[in-house]
Amino acid sequence: SDSDPRLPLQLMIAAPRGFCAGVDRAIEIVERALQKYGAPVYVRHEIVHNRYVVDSLKAKGAVFVEELDEVPDDAPVVFSAHGVPKTVPAEAERRKMLYVDATCPLVSKVHRQAERQIEKGQHILFIGHAGHPEVIGTMGQVPEGRITLVETVEDVARLEFGPDDDLSYLSQTTLSVDDTREIIAALEARFPQIVAPKAEDICYATSNRQAAVKDIAESCDLVLVIGAPNSSNSLRLVEVAERLGTDARLIQRADEIDPSWLEGVGTIGLTAGASAPEKLVREVVDRLSDWRQVEEQVVTSAEENMVFKLPRQLTD
Ligand code: F3S
Repeated sequence: SDSDPRLPLQLMIAAPRGFCAGVDRAIEIVERALQKYGAPVYVRHEIVHNRYVVDSLKAKGAVFVEELDEVPDDAPVVFSAHGVPKTVPAEAERRKMLYVDATCPLVSKVHRQAERQIEKGQHILFIGHAGHPEVIGTMGQVPEGRITLVETVEDVARLEFGPDDDLSYLSQTTLSVDDTREIIAALEARFPQIVAPKAEDICYATSNRQAAVKDIAESCDLVLVIGAPNSSNSLRLVEVAERLGTDARLIQRADEIDPSWLEGVGTIGLTAGASAPEKLVREVVDRLSDWRQVEEQVVTSAEENMVFKLPRQLTD
């Protein structure tokens, strides 16, 4: 209103943002497992990379562990959305455990492609970030020595393969669309015989969120990305804004915003990684409204209506 003494702040909220269908499904799997089997339900690895989500599930009786050997034989266990190496379900079977796999169907699709490429006798060059659970899971779908991680264009130059090697490539689902395009171009230039995956592996949610932040970044003085420091797709959203010349910051919660960041800022952009709930977006808007008179605008670059089916063991 006219009597509001606070300075106006234009807020551009990117859409799509936040939860993807794979994250929605993974959270629902844990909730349904708790209803069906009762607490405790163990979850191997953070179900999705978001502390708020993990803490809410903990409050309902989920117990998060890093490895299967921390789970008693007779307790139900859920595998996270990022996917797991083949050794994990194999170990669960051996111990006759009750497990539910919350691997995102789009990650499982990459797993199946990896198996097919190996059956065809190809060596896989896998584009991804070392140490990320999805990378560990996908590399763990095939026998050791049949898949090589490629993180950068520089890595491509260092590969020790020749023109006669049967090669194919795949990628992590949550990479930078632009970086991946460059790495693929380098692979195809160096190995013209390399076989591409049937469809692009970067998922719809990752590419839509990157496109949405691109649409607002140049109009903003600062972009805030809600996401965890170990969330690959959230980190990529920060990079996308920065490459367009806009300052960007990754925050987990509204209380991390330092009011000094807003000095000289007239327009601020806001988005959230695929594992960040919308509640955290509202929390940020409320926090900004404590200091400035916020004028909110949602900028929609694509519509999303993806929904994934739940595992049958939880719907019966
Ligand atoms: Fe799946 Fe993509 Fe989300 S792979 S978990 S839909 S970020």
